[in-house]
Amino acid sequence: MEMEKLVALCRRRGFIFQSSEIYGGINGFWDYGPLGVELKRNIKEAWWHDMVQNPPLGPDGQEIAMVGVDCAIIMNPKVWQASGHVDTFADPMVDCKKCRKRYRADTVFFAGLAAPEQPVSIVLAVEATEKTEAARLLQAEQQRLVKKRKISDGLTATIHTAKEAPPEWARPCPAPGCDGQLTEPRQFNLMFETYVGALKDASSVAYLRPETAQGIFANFRNVLDSTRLKLPFGIAQVGKAFRNEINPRNYTFRSREFEQMEIEFFCHPAESMKWYQYWREVRIKWYTHLGVQSERLRPREQDKDELAHYSIGTTDIEYLFPFADEPQELEGVAHRGAYDLTQHAKFSGKDHTYFDEDAWQRDKEQYPDPKAAQEAKTKEPYRFIPHVVEPSAGVDRFTLAVLCEAYAEDEIGGEPRTVMRFHPRLAPIKAAILPLVNKEGMPEKAHALYRELKSQFNVFYDEKGAVGRRYRRQDEAGTPYCITIDGQTLQDATVTIRDRDTTQQWRVPMQGVAEELRKRLRPGM
Ligand code: GAP
Repeated sequence: MEMEKLVALCRRRGFIFQSSEIYGGINGFWDYGPLGVELKRNIKEAWWHDMVQNPPLGPDGQEIAMVGVDCAIIMNPKVWQASGHVDTFADPMVDCKKCRKRYRADTVFFAGLAAPEQPVSIVLAVEATEKTEAARLLQAEQQRLVKKRKISDGLTATIHTAKEAPPEWARPCPAPGCDGQLTEPRQFNLMFETYVGALKDASSVAYLRPETAQGIFANFRNVLDSTRLKLPFGIAQVGKAFRNEINPRNYTFRSREFEQMEIEFFCHPAESMKWYQYWREVRIKWYTHLGVQSERLRPREQDKDELAHYSIGTTDIEYLFPFADEPQELEGVAHRGAYDLTQHAKFSGKDHTYFDEDAWQRDKEQYPDPKAAQEAKTKEPYRFIPHVVEPSAGVDRFTLAVLCEAYAEDEIGGEPRTVMRFHPRLAPIKAAILPLVNKEGMPEKAHALYRELKSQFNVFYDEKGAVGRRYRRQDEAGTPYCITIDGQTLQDATVTIRDRDTTQQWRVPMQGVAEELRKRLRPGM
């Protein structure tokens, strides 16, 4: 599947538009149109339903306790000091000293070319998402230069990113036609800054949140005190996050404004690996359940040097997008240990420990001496800072994966068609109601059915043009079912239902249509 075709369809059919397009757009920002907003809402609702309201049973067959929060985007800046974002949430960047273009240092790849037993004499540069793509582009560039006799044949290439290239190498700019040199890498903080209140000075600086997670950590105490939750339990949040990415790229994949669906799952430290395993499995299953082909999806354990400052271990759930040679991150499932709650306890001065009352009641006879009992109560396993497992998914990245996965071209009766094969739960429109012809009482019957279904599902009424063309339009919008009112409907009150993927049709009584749709759209993993 070519990305250009998908991007064109998304614009033409109202899934995704460039933000402020009429003014030339703004890099890294996107708007969702009428179909896109429904798709995205369905994704968020499926996640909330399957993870928060009805999560799969735990590893020992137990019910999983989950609640949600919806926190402010702008928080007290101390939150971001405590979380480590002010000091460490940065990407290394490099600038071209000539054309002034700025790059993320780990997306510029150099090939150092050397004759046998000789030092590197020529350096080529390209911009790429990962090493395989970079190697392919650099090899093509090397061959081109050999053909043009600009460099000799038989030079061996060593590849490094601009972040780790040896200091003696030249650092050419990868922009086509630019012969400038890049600077050494410098750290660039990704948080967007703003000012709160009438004063614009250092005392009023605040940040647009770069992740929804910290709203959850900052409310851990509030949630614990206002509910009767006991460990283990999870707190979930869906919402906007903002990062001033150096190079937004690959359509919506790396944006500057995006949405996250995050869970912070709090548990006893001794059980944290069990829960890490549980969430990894649950989250992978969720994607396959919603129609993502398992061969394009893979879990990948991050290497120690890739881990974020808070993480003991992270598994990225990756998807092979058509724009990349290697799978890219859809979601990270991180074992954050006690890092965040410890930091917030330290910076806020508020107690963030958890007292396991049940374990204490069970064991207290073991401590007949009151002094020893008091001492035991303040220590693990009775009092401790919970550990956290965090499945953190990107709404926009999954929306993009769903769009890529759904896009298909086939032939129906010798005619080519483009069809979006969305999982019925995610499809923006669930069914289209179509009178076969725009007369003989069919529009009236179709309209009555439309009105009945409208209160329960997102359905669409269309009476314009030949029915074949109306089917094609719905196929392109990814509508799983088309319900047609025809001559027979007027006689026996049955209608046809057409399946988008097989194009097969079957008849059902008009009054059974809502039930039939409900059955086919039923949630659950
Ligand atoms: N709280 C942990 C956290 O934020 P992350 O790996 O930085 O971890 C989690 O982000 C998810 O958010 C990613 O897996 C991705 O789906 C999404 N995400 C991160 N940066 C993004 C960006 N610039 N554009 C779109 N989605 C992004």
